[in-house]
Amino acid sequence: MIRKCLFPVAGYGTRFLPATKSMPKEMLPVVNKPLVQYGVEEAIDAGLKQIAFVTGRGKRAIADHFDISYELEHQIAGTSKEKYLTSIRNVLNKGTFMMTRQREMKGLGHAVLTAESLIGNEAFGVILSDDLCLNKDDDGVLKQMVKLYNQFRCSIVAIQEVPMDEIDKYGVIAGDDMGNGLFRVSDMVEKPAPADAPSNYAVIGRYILTPDIFDIIRATPPGKNGEIQLTDALLTQAKAGCVLAYKFRGRRFDCGSVPGFIEATNFVYENIYGEE
Ligand code: UTP
Repeated sequence: MIRKCLFPVAGYGTRFLPATKSMPKEMLPVVNKPLVQYGVEEAIDAGLKQIAFVTGRGKRAIADHFDISYELEHQIAGTSKEKYLTSIRNVLNKGTFMMTRQREMKGLGHAVLTAESLIGNEAFGVILSDDLCLNKDDDGVLKQMVKLYNQFRCSIVAIQEVPMDEIDKYGVIAGDDMGNGLFRVSDMVEKPAPADAPSNYAVIGRYILTPDIFDIIRATPPGKNGEIQLTDALLTQAKAGCVLAYKFRGRRFDCGSVPGFIEATNFVYENIYGEE
């Protein structure tokens, strides 16, 4: 049983400056809900109710969001406005929340390693909440991956086909096609030039990781941009055993970029907002 989901939220969100100067990128609202709450709802829906955040300086708003706002609760209790708190109250009732800080931004691999004491020796999910994944009326992306983990018991990364002129923004896999959208990973490259990309299958921000990943990250030297890359650690894990890549069902919006964020906002407003 996977119980824990990690949210690395220590990044600076430079592509959203000046909005992210004193506010975490993860608190940007898609319509009326912060990005990170969509991710936490996806995790809880997949059965991962212990939520771990790797935060950094200036990210206190995330901790406050997943806590009671006593004055607000008191003010609107019994009024017609109380309904606006329903979705966050549901999350707070179902989940438990833990935090640790990544003191230096040394990359996603390093952020995952920072959470080792919160996760312990068990498989866990990872959600990068700036990748908003929606799959209305069907299993969420993490839930799809948990089902696969229960079958295969190894690390799994979510993948999506992207245009070659955007491939240098992603980790990219090569793998043996096992059918049903599953690949056994044979190669993985972080942010390759199009000519060096092993495929157009980009890794997006959903992972299931087995706990041996911590020792592998510890032994992984800094890679692209001098950061400790989760992609490099996953390649080591793939070569030593097995890592699967899964072409998920659903839509994914790159909310770390302004165009992706606008697209998500329009999609949610037209298709989801008002139905909850
Ligand atoms: P990004 O590459 O999107 O970086 O990180 P960013 O800082 O959030 O955004 P930009 O590029 O400056 O606009 C991918 C994910 O990994 C986390 C980020 O919070 C984000 O969710 N991350 C990355 C960390 O938590 N720590 C790190 O050292 C690096």
